[in-house]
Amino acid sequence: MCGIVGYIGPKEKKEILLDGLQELEYRGYDSAGIAIIEGKKLHDFKAVGKLKNLREKTKNYTSEGFGVSIGHTRWATHGKPTELNAHPHLGAYSYVVHNGIIENYQELKKELQQGGVTFLSQTDTETIVHLFEKYHNEGLTPFEAFKKTVNRLEGAYATLLITEAAPDTIFFAKNGSPMLIGFDGEEVYFASSDTPIIGKANEVYYLEDGEYGYVQNGKVHLFDSHGEKVFHTQPLIADKAMAQKEGYRFFMEKEIYEQSRVMGETMMGRVLEEEIVLDELDADFFEGINAIKICACGTSYHSALTAAYLFERLAKIRCDVEIASEFRYKEPLLTQDTLFVTISQSGETADTLEALKMAKRAGLKSLSVCNVDNSSIVRESDTAILTRAGIEKGVASTKAFATQTMVLWMLTLYVGQVKGTLSKEVLKSEIDAMLHTPKALIVTDELHAKLHRLSKRYLHGHGFFFIGRDIFYPLALEGALKLKEISYLHAEGYPAGEMKHGPIALADAELFTIALMPKTMHYDKIKSNVEELSARDATICAISPLPFELADDFVQTQYSSHPMVEFFEMMVVTQLLALEISVRLGNDVDMPRNLAKSVTVE
Ligand code: F6R
Repeated sequence: MCGIVGYIGPKEKKEILLDGLQELEYRGYDSAGIAIIEGKKLHDFKAVGKLKNLREKTKNYTSEGFGVSIGHTRWATHGKPTELNAHPHLGAYSYVVHNGIIENYQELKKELQQGGVTFLSQTDTETIVHLFEKYHNEGLTPFEAFKKTVNRLEGAYATLLITEAAPDTIFFAKNGSPMLIGFDGEEVYFASSDTPIIGKANEVYYLEDGEYGYVQNGKVHLFDSHGEKVFHTQPLIADKAMAQKEGYRFFMEKEIYEQSRVMGETMMGRVLEEEIVLDELDADFFEGINAIKICACGTSYHSALTAAYLFERLAKIRCDVEIASEFRYKEPLLTQDTLFVTISQSGETADTLEALKMAKRAGLKSLSVCNVDNSSIVRESDTAILTRAGIEKGVASTKAFATQTMVLWMLTLYVGQVKGTLSKEVLKSEIDAMLHTPKALIVTDELHAKLHRLSKRYLHGHGFFFIGRDIFYPLALEGALKLKEISYLHAEGYPAGEMKHGPIALADAELFTIALMPKTMHYDKIKSNVEELSARDATICAISPLPFELADDFVQTQYSSHPMVEFFEMMVVTQLLALEISVRLGNDVDMPRNLAKSVTVE
């Protein structure tokens, strides 16, 4: 995820910016840059890759005297991780850094291009600096021009702007993406989270959505839609590890909460009102393709299984899914009308990578769905669709799974579109459901408190069965995997209709059943499967929008308009349940025993 730092004051600025960016490294990035104005002189440096590259580029430069400065680490979402796409973005005499998404950037870009502006990057951010200079060149003061610019922006942003037109000022605005202001006497810092300013500033103010303003002569002028406002700072906490988790107890918890927001990034520019646009795919990409084979491991395999239901049902294209480590040694029959899809959060999983190489040797066209640009799997594939989840630190995958599943759902609709197997009406209703997904991923205080309370019943017993039907079967597998990974309790995911063919023999009060009971998908069928278990005294935790009187515990979900929306809401419930059980058992949630985040061995 991108990171922002800023500083205004007399100290050496290069080191402040680089140190600050270093503190944001844990968020993941693939390029970085800084811009400094001292006196009237503008300096900027950018580098692809790790910060040491930027350090190398700036080694002969030291800032002198009072000045303003901004820096950024970028995690590629719109456009490749190149120097041109790295921030800060330059206009004619101003620089900008930005986190978030400018949803209306295409419209703004077009307007600016029609006015003669040339864009250097593929980013949405560049529109901010050109818009600012356009208004300033029309005669507005720098602050009026900045205010007018901010008023035009739609979407999520935290942004800093510096300009030769006001070389003693940093302009800032925040809406949806985090940003804070740190104070040390007359010196003022900006950052996208606490870590860069710990040890530098003593007091902090966390900007609210809709706030903007400027800092000049050590004084911050803060505005919202009602005009200039008074604000109160608070002491800054001094624990860096705590600060990296942004107030959450664990990275995994933070990542569960982030899902609603990152889903917006995943869909940005791809899910339009009546159409799915995937710029990564050439118009003829699916020509001659009659089947899809997906290979993945673990959680990524579960998103693949979900996708297989969607591809066949919606896009009417045959789809098989294989565990990569099995696929490698089974001497599979591969035909050239099959698109070979690999799914991987890290892009480095050895089994998946080798499976991809095998498919390529057999002459298959390949596509990867991945969270890390330039990873081995992305480089090896003919083309890749990035999930844009931002770095995932918790070993147990959450937001990566959510975004993989979303990308595969989009891909399904895309295939349906290009193959003409999806009617306009169905496409429209699927897109409407997609756009509802971020809402269904919001973790409310009530839901989290409920799962915390409920988790105490599930600490012992002889095992868990997560059960579901259709796409809720892979979700059951994923729920069970999450629980296993961080609680070390035995859990299995099972197709609900299959329980009677054997596992029901295990049913007694010590067998915990987590039943996924969506309203929109085979509700009556799964209800009778759960009734059979309840009749054998199994302890039932039902997750459903519909009340179920045989449940020992019941988590009522809110959304029941579409199976995928129900899927994502139930996914959050299973993730939080696993988290709360693990916490009660005193386990290391973020680094469970025996597991690694990236499995680069066979
Ligand atoms: C589980 C988990 C693993 C990974 C698997 C594949 O929470 O994260 O099961 O999904 O090791 O990893 P990637 O997706 O990086 O290929």
